[in-house]
Amino acid sequence: MKGVLLSGGTGSRLRPITHTGPKQLVPVANKPVLEYAVEDFKAAGITEIGVILGHKGRDEIQDLLGDGSKYGVDITYIVQGNPLGLAHAAGCARDFVGDDDFVMYLGDNILKSGITDLVESFEAGDYGAGIALQRVDDPQAFGIADVDENGNVTELIEKPDDPPTNLALIGMYVFSPAVFDAIDNLEPSWRGELEITDAIQSLLEDGYEIDSHVVTGWWKDTGKPEDILEANRLVLEETNLTTDGTVAEDATTDGRVGLAESATIEDGAVVRGPVSIAENTTVKSGTYVGPYSSIGANVTLSNIHIENSVVIGDSEITASGRIVDSLIGRSANVESTDGLLPEGRRLVVGENSQLKL
Ligand code: DAU
Repeated sequence: MKGVLLSGGTGSRLRPITHTGPKQLVPVANKPVLEYAVEDFKAAGITEIGVILGHKGRDEIQDLLGDGSKYGVDITYIVQGNPLGLAHAAGCARDFVGDDDFVMYLGDNILKSGITDLVESFEAGDYGAGIALQRVDDPQAFGIADVDENGNVTELIEKPDDPPTNLALIGMYVFSPAVFDAIDNLEPSWRGELEITDAIQSLLEDGYEIDSHVVTGWWKDTGKPEDILEANRLVLEETNLTTDGTVAEDATTDGRVGLAESATIEDGAVVRGPVSIAENTTVKSGTYVGPYSSIGANVTLSNIHIENSVVIGDSEITASGRIVDSLIGRSANVESTDGLLPEGRRLVVGENSQLKL
């Protein structure tokens, strides 16, 4: 079994956070989303991984993952170029996959329970594909499966106007090489893409059995800022956080606080976990960092009250007031001279921005 990790696409729904960088590198609990997928592959025993690259952020992705050895896997890079659809991306991996079965993992998705169950279930039968499903509130936004009374998949439809169920295809699939013939015969969908959902539907029509199961642990497609914040909350809730940095004598920390070795919480600052604070970041006097916040590397926080937020890194935030439920892009500076609203500001600040409130 091989792995194919999709890291192309445009990330348009995460603009301005992803104007220059790829969306798969946005951090959740101070770790790029893409790394969770690589770890899931490794945990499922899949160590040969093809990473599909688009136009944007190729160098950053290769700088992060390298040859995979730091994760105990072997990474091959495959250039897709234009984002012509998930099935097109899978098709680009044909030579890499050869005659093997493979797991395709969407690089902006994150899943509590990993992919081991999906792989084992597929390997236990004789299937054309294996899919993981989860019930969603907005089925029009996903690929949707219809199932019969025995739970067998009867139809798959990409982003239907009139969804027959609320069972969404989540971003991890297992395929036999038969999918490549199905991909060859696809026509672009209404959104102009070759849809992987249509490829699985065509396997179904050709008589292949599709293995499916409903995933109960949480899953997030981190395509939008609010999804990043939610994924960050879910991961912080479960991550082992250790305080390795410097906490000054008159600073207050409460709950689980992850503090990197070179990070500092200065006298007069208050940090209430679960919180993750990365390398070289300083929480200065008069600052409050509240639950479910991840503050990236090389950030200075002064006088601010921030909670339930993600600060990606290389930023200075100097504001007398509250920032809540916010996503602050890399190298963005936020400054306030006359205080923020008492109920707090919700901000999505693009990378390299200067914001004066
Ligand atoms: O999140 C689950 C959903 O993912 C499924 O329910 C849908 O059936 C499936 O089509 C997909 O929908 P999205 O519209 O959310 O996919 P998106 O365009 O966000 O792409 C998913 C990932 O694949 C993302 O990491 C970017 C990457 N990608 C995307 C395209 C279109 C590529 O690498 N190449 C591409 O051509």
